Amino acid sequence: MKLPNHVAIIMDGNGRWAKERLLPRGEGHRQGMNRMIDLADYAFTKGIDYLTVYALSTENLSRPKEEVEGLFNLFRLYFTVNVKKMIKRNMRVKVIGDVSALPEDIQKLIAQNEQASAGGTRGCLNIAINYGSRQEIVYACNRLVKEGKEITEESLSSALYTGGQPEPDLIIRTGREKRISNFLLYQAAYAELYFTDVMFPDFTNEEFEKALSDFSGRKRRFGKTDEQVGNA
Ligand code: FPP
Repeated sequence: MKLPNHVAIIMDGNGRWAKERLLPRGEGHRQGMNRMIDLADYAFTKGIDYLTVYALSTENLSRPKEEVEGLFNLFRLYFTVNVKKMIKRNMRVKVIGDVSALPEDIQKLIAQNEQASAGGTRGCLNIAINYGSRQEIVYACNRLVKEGKEITEESLSSALYTGGQPEPDLIIRTGREKRISNFLLYQAAYAELYFTDVMFPDFTNEEFEKALSDFSGRKRRFGKTDEQVGNA
């Protein structure tokens, strides 16, 4: 089966998952985090090299304080406890987004773990926190202008948070909605899109396999013809 090298996931539906069970929204996020941890391990074990997960958009930061604080506490837990296992298993973790707006202790934890895992070769987990794709593009352009560099497809691509990484081959969105929500707009130019009604806490490895199987049947042409790209 043809595997994607880079999978990105919009982990939507945690709130509805919790509501259906009469649980607080934060419980949905906690279950979502645990699912994300197992899914990353599963994906890297299969040989997928990059997994990018949308944990908090720039817009999400203006949700009620209690929910945002709950997410911050999950990040604290992840970056003090859960990430250790990943690093031990030679995986790399990187945060994409404007971390300067996060509480200082979280910024420190992120920097420490990015540093500690920088040499990891068994998969790279990009966690998008306070991430917005439009902001990312504007930030990258401004950086190039400041450095006196010409803006080209290559220079812009390498100035993004994901600079140096391959573009996503497959973007999955759970939770029934069919939109991209300001996620990897530049990088997604030729990504295959997969939408599922399953809420993220219920997005099991089996559900992930369904997405991979769907991907393996897609004919990618990158704007060319089947013959040009060698599709049967
Ligand atoms: C969208 O569901 C999900 C989020 C805004 C947060 C996702 C965060 C996690 C899964 C935790 C990640 C933790 C780490 C450490 C990476 P929603 O709340 O918008 O769901 P709804 O649309 O059903 O209300």
